[in-house]
Amino acid sequence: MCDEIFDQKNMHLDQILADRRSYRQFRPEFPDEDEIRRILHAGLLAPYAAAAIGGSKDYFRRFFVMKRGSRSLDAAIPLVMDQVTVMAQGLEREMEQNPVLREKAVSFVQRLGMIRKMGRVPGVGNAPYYIVVAERKGFPPVELQSLAHCLENMWLKATALELGFQIVSITSQMSGNPEFCKILGIPAGEWELMGCAVGYAADELSPSIRPPVEDVTRWLE
Ligand SMILES: Cc1cc2nc3c(=O)[nH]c(=O)nc-3n(C[C@H](O)[C@H](O)[C@H](O)COP(=O)(O)O)c2cc1C
Repeated sequence: MCDEIFDQKNMHLDQILADRRSYRQFRPEFPDEDEIRRILHAGLLAPYAAAAIGGSKDYFRRFFVMKRGSRSLDAAIPLVMDQVTVMAQGLEREMEQNPVLREKAVSFVQRLGMIRKMGRVPGVGNAPYYIVVAERKGFPPVELQSLAHCLENMWLKATALELGFQIVSITSQMSGNPEFCKILGIPAGEWELMGCAVGYAADELSPSIRPPVEDVTRWLE
């Protein structure tokens, strides 16, 4: 490959990787549906666990796009919020019995408490789009890893399109919720889920800051 093209490809990729950030405040305007399709296409290009879903005839990855103000999203919002409460109460009960968990989960439980106080799950209803991605359960159960690859591709594409993107990880807790799955039109319990919010970011964030590679790497003999 000619050196100039090689350098340009790497320069652009490095820039997108550095620019990728979690945006949590969105402007009200809706990005074009075509831009959303380009993000979903990037998700489809992500790797998947071929050996784990080998036998399935039906395609194993699905996208569900919910627009702010839509019937589907209005129905999903309280269900996701209820799940936060269920999770918080379950964790609090477990933490009473388990001191190790109590120490480990304290900041996560505080975060759930903040969400409950706010009365809304960040990314679900405040962004122009809430997108749920589903991966059919296979064996071994590696759907969540597969979804992470898919979401990362989508995140990088959104970054290249200069759109804000936020992971909404509580979505994974909804995979067994019959009412939530009914909104998506899938049977509860057969798919793992992950979600994200997409829209124009309300503010600009500077590129990510990470430690130097050498500080966190050991080259083994
Ligand atoms: C597995 C996973 C789950 C995450 N869940 C959420 C989430 O539910 N809400 C959110 O706002 N950010 C979520 N994030 C984003 C991280 O908080 C974020 O990537 C981290 O703080 C670094 O910031 P940056 O993405 O701007 O580089 C998640 C990230 C990962 C990898």
